[in-house]
Amino acid sequence: MRAAALSAASPPEPDRDCPLCPRLHDFIASWREREPGWFNAPVPTFLPPEGEGSVKLLIVGLAPGLRGANRTGRPFTGDYAGDLLYGTLIAQGLARGEFKARPDDGLELVGTAITNAVRCVPPENKPVGAEIATCRSFLKPTIARFANLRAILTLGSIAHQSTVRALGGRVAALPFRHGGRQEAGGITLFSSYHCSRYNTNTGVLTEEMFVNVFKEIAAFLQG
Ligand code: URA
Repeated sequence: MRAAALSAASPPEPDRDCPLCPRLHDFIASWREREPGWFNAPVPTFLPPEGEGSVKLLIVGLAPGLRGANRTGRPFTGDYAGDLLYGTLIAQGLARGEFKARPDDGLELVGTAITNAVRCVPPENKPVGAEIATCRSFLKPTIARFANLRAILTLGSIAHQSTVRALGGRVAALPFRHGGRQEAGGITLFSSYHCSRYNTNTGVLTEEMFVNVFKEIAAFLQG
């Protein structure tokens, strides 16, 4: 099912000037004028130094934050969500080094890659359905490029639903829930509430809840 559902026909990374979503393209163009020193482009998948063959876990976020990944060019780097995510990855042995919220901080992923369901920063952090569907043409080959992939962790319901669809599954049969663990397209799919500041400030997601998801994944990968 996995091979049939996933097409490697498209490249896994969009062009720097990807025109497929006009609203996102225009939004980035406006930020290139305002902040020419920022990355301001589709944010590429963050890979471990050992290469794609070493990746057993793929983490799928929502989309780059305006002053986070859109500014720095590395997923979850430069805004609050990354502090919790990378701190947890280091604690669970899925990253090494120190996270200093800069793409040149030397932090390295271990057996893990990080991408986003939508690669371009959306206005107000909200991609629309057509953008999520269009950008799935990059998510599918991103999943397919990891020959030894065993697990995917989705952060939030939008990333979860787009990943289920990318794997050829039905969202109604594989609904999002925090702490979920389901099989889809030959992959074990874990899901968590997104580690956004909003979710942690409102108590939707506590650090303990987030860490517990990663403990389960780390145990699964070692098993
Ligand atoms: N930064 C990202 O790269 N993705 C998110 O989902 C949030 C922040």
